[in-house]
Amino acid sequence: MEAIFTRSSVRKFEECPVEPEKIEKILRAAMAAPSAKNQQPWEFFVVTAKNTLLTLSQATPYAMCVKNAPAAFVLAARREGLIAPEFRDIDMAIATENMMLEIEALGLGAVMIGVAPIPENMDKVRAAVVLPETLDPFTILPFGYPAKRRIPEDRYDPARVHWIKA
Ligand SMILES: Cc1cc2nc3c(=O)[nH]c(=O)nc-3n(C[C@H](O)[C@H](O)[C@H](O)COP(=O)(O)O)c2cc1C
Repeated sequence: MEAIFTRSSVRKFEECPVEPEKIEKILRAAMAAPSAKNQQPWEFFVVTAKNTLLTLSQATPYAMCVKNAPAAFVLAARREGLIAPEFRDIDMAIATENMMLEIEALGLGAVMIGVAPIPENMDKVRAAVVLPETLDPFTILPFGYPAKRRIPEDRYDPARVHWIKA
């Protein structure tokens, strides 16, 4: 799958907005992800409000690029009613990767901003998006048309592969 190998994190974006059809495709990719017992613990907030993007850019020390993105997804996880709560954040991470790959396939770019499980980050994102107490913020994914792209490095390292042969 080409997008896996061409993707790299994008932190500088063109100002132009992303088409709503593309945003829906990215959300469809997220919700197509596997999850433990198919519990689908996710909720997605699509932020295009400039003032909220600015507040989100101050939610962690490494989120500056959110301020200049035309949009960001905030992923949040439900706290209640889950069948396999111990796997919840793994489910969230897999959905995030699905989104990043669809973003790449659509000619867009994004970067995952680490929020959970750091309580200070989570509190700030919760306040910025006004999340209910039943949801925990997981990550911020600023996205848009890339203003700058890096050629991804080849990270394949055969020394990390351990065969247990027949
Ligand atoms: C869990 C996680 C948290 C991350 N947090 C941040 C972040 O807070 N700010 C940022 O600019 N990049 C963040 N990144 C992006 C990584 O720095 C990036 O994926 C890594 O350097 C590899 O580069 P690549 O994505 O271009 O392959 C995060 C990535 C992951 C998976």
